[in-house]
Amino acid sequence: MRAAILRNVGDTALDVCDDVELIEPGPTDVIVDITHTGICHSDLSVMNGTIPERIPSVLGHEGAGIVAEVGDAVTSVSVGDHVIAVWSPPCGNCVYCLGHKRPNLCANLQFGIMLRPQFRQGDQDLGAMCGVGTFADRTLLPEQAVVQIDAGVPLETAALVGCGVMTGVGAALNTAKVAPGSSVVVLGAGGVGISAIQGARIAGAADIVAVDRNPAKLGVARSFGATEAVLPEDLDEVKAAMNGGQGFDYALECIGHPVTMRAAYDAVRRGGTCCIVGVGRVEEQLSFSAFEIFFNEKNLVGSYYGGADVRVDFHRMLRLAEAGQLDLAGMIDRRLSLEDINDGIDALLTGDVVRQVVEL
Ligand code: APR
Ligand code: ZN
Repeated sequence: MRAAILRNVGDTALDVCDDVELIEPGPTDVIVDITHTGICHSDLSVMNGTIPERIPSVLGHEGAGIVAEVGDAVTSVSVGDHVIAVWSPPCGNCVYCLGHKRPNLCANLQFGIMLRPQFRQGDQDLGAMCGVGTFADRTLLPEQAVVQIDAGVPLETAALVGCGVMTGVGAALNTAKVAPGSSVVVLGAGGVGISAIQGARIAGAADIVAVDRNPAKLGVARSFGATEAVLPEDLDEVKAAMNGGQGFDYALECIGHPVTMRAAYDAVRRGGTCCIVGVGRVEEQLSFSAFEIFFNEKNLVGSYYGGADVRVDFHRMLRLAEAGQLDLAGMIDRRLSLEDINDGIDALLTGDVVRQVVEL
């Protein structure tokens, strides 16, 4: 089967091959025919070393498809079911899943499957991004890493729910808990930022300001619900209009750089919430004065997978879409084949696209 493989960290293109195989499924595994996968900035972040991953590896972690095979012990899905892949699957039994009710933080399966090579090419084992690997005709996942959806839901838009949409909407609703009538600034208007803007709109925010360095993104952000959209140099001016000059109630950073994370913290008022959604490099530092943390009493919070319980929240996203409150189809600005995936990676680098979907 076909798969797009990252050979070396630092490569600017993936190696699209047609001689890749899956390993033998175990009793609790599911094989999924991937029909659609989004290209997310986190795929680029694995390529450039921001997100650590074993290589060689099949990238892609935002996908949907149809169950093709199930192991003997699988109980939750059957052959033919439509599913969304999960890049941080809840094991269902641990202190995060049951005790703290934070299943997005359960790492029992995520790190287990990341260590198990799912794919093989000749004699060589291949890993998979986050243990998912949706840039392939088929992938192999533990049953907890698929969420069954209604067969009537378009798989193309369902794919986006698997990462960018859940991450952005979930950051607004679950992590920051944006309140009705509040003011929100969203930094970065890519797939994740546009989802965060939509999440803030769903939550009933009165002011939603998008910030992006790409002027073309400002109109896009407005079309998804931003009440205002500005270049980074104009952020201070907009901030001055919020809460009598104190700043925004919430900031959602959807880029992943220390500079924009710091800008997000500075954009919120005392007592406001700065939510970091973007993924920065392991070795990069973000600094604060030891006084300001106390004095400002701001809530500084990370958001991992939109704080989601995917077993519940994927369905919430799809219901919001069905109700016309969340525009998923409008986020797709380009459709590609797997053979053209490197064009998609180039386009994401220039920041001109919201979401590109590869049809498999
Ligand atoms: N200032 C303002 N805007 C910026 C800057 C900057 N310094 N750098 C990048 N941007 C904008 C780009 O122009 C683009 O519109 O941020 C947006 C990023 O969008 P995508 O590349 O589509 O990224 P996305 O998939 O949305 O992911 C964003 O969330 O999940 C994480 O790993 C992911 O860190 C990444 C972030
Ligand atoms: Zn992603």
